[in-house]
Amino acid sequence: MPVQLSNDQLTRVANEFGTPVYIYHAEKIQEQYQKLKTAFQKSDARFYYAAKALTNINVLRYIHSLGAGVDCSSINEVKLALYSGFHPSEVLYTANGIAFSEIEEAQSLGVKINIDSLSNLEKFGKRFAHSYPVGIRLRPNIMAGGNLKISTGHDKSKFGIPVGKIDQIVSLKNQYNLCISNLHIHTGSDIDDADVFIRGIEVLFEIIPSFEELQSVDLGGGFKVPYKKEDKELDIFRLGEKVFAMFEKYEKAGGRKLQIWFEPGKFLVSQCGYFVTTVNVLKETSATTFAGVNSGFNHLIRPMFYDAYHYIENISNPGGALKKYSVVGNICETDTFAWERELNEIREGDYLVFFNAGAYGFEMSSNFNSRFKPAEVMIKDGNAFLIRKRDEFDDLLEKQVKVF
Ligand code: LLP
Repeated sequence: MPVQLSNDQLTRVANEFGTPVYIYHAEKIQEQYQKLKTAFQKSDARFYYAAKALTNINVLRYIHSLGAGVDCSSINEVKLALYSGFHPSEVLYTANGIAFSEIEEAQSLGVKINIDSLSNLEKFGKRFAHSYPVGIRLRPNIMAGGNLKISTGHDKSKFGIPVGKIDQIVSLKNQYNLCISNLHIHTGSDIDDADVFIRGIEVLFEIIPSFEELQSVDLGGGFKVPYKKEDKELDIFRLGEKVFAMFEKYEKAGGRKLQIWFEPGKFLVSQCGYFVTTVNVLKETSATTFAGVNSGFNHLIRPMFYDAYHYIENISNPGGALKKYSVVGNICETDTFAWERELNEIREGDYLVFFNAGAYGFEMSSNFNSRFKPAEVMIKDGNAFLIRKRDEFDDLLEKQVKVF
């Protein structure tokens, strides 16, 4: 039996808490975490959940309870993680383009840090020298990921220190007596090819000998999960075997024993999430029939921003005749979720559900058009819990200062 929520469960939550609503299924997160543990058990890998995918503190607490660490991309995510119960040693801070003051703050909080630029590495050396072990984010010059917007390891990417600058990294290490304990790469999101990680490891193996105090290598996240039924997903079991074989060979050849880390975001929380909307308006035109829902790219930006596909179902009329609809939102911009998609006949008032809505769904939402952000609900052991209230009118005013 696949771990997933039934139409009945989704409908009940929508009836009880209203729409639009994000619903997360705890047991699905658990299932995904178990897959990771099994796939990489021979390597004894560690997993740091990429919090940027979904930071609701209940989700963070739940993932912590499963035994994962957390990877943060801002100092506020670090603080949310600590607030949610992660010990500083379980928190990784991998940011880019940040002021050195944020790195100092992360150091004072005692979390693990990956540094992404030579200039911050130098400042770190001047300030902390050997006293605080630190990681380095490298740009391995590998093109990977679902599309250019989510590709981060190629030779035009802003992320990481280009691996070609290894001599400068080593000379900073020597000049300031830095303790480099981790090397990090993250080449992109929606990676469906295990060989991308293998190529990344090969790049790392070349330079590891320059770092005598290295404890770990961090291979980032990016494991592709299926969004369409026919999507190819990353075979993590095959990846687990390959990674183990590479490191075993490396150690047998005299290489140091290193811990292997990953930072999965989508893999843990994409499929656990459902976004339920209500159809406000049906509009027949010569081009298409629009089904206008009570949402827009203010709530789920992935289709408009990345041309991302989200599977949609009309859970109010599952037996209805199949017809083609273009599902759009209600904001004052073109906000097409799906063009000419075959769906069970839609009536005004029906619930349309977007699947794979856990990762980068609510997290990338906004109050554009002064619309409210949706509520969030978590289902655990069959019970539904409200974990974030829908915005109210006062929330729109809360931070505004009435001066004129
Ligand atoms: N580690 C680092 C350093 C990252 O930058 C990211 C994602 C991850 C881990 C997790 O990647 P994941 O396992 O979730 O693919 N908003 C885009 C995805 C952007 C990913 C940004 N970095 C989307 O909705 O497709």
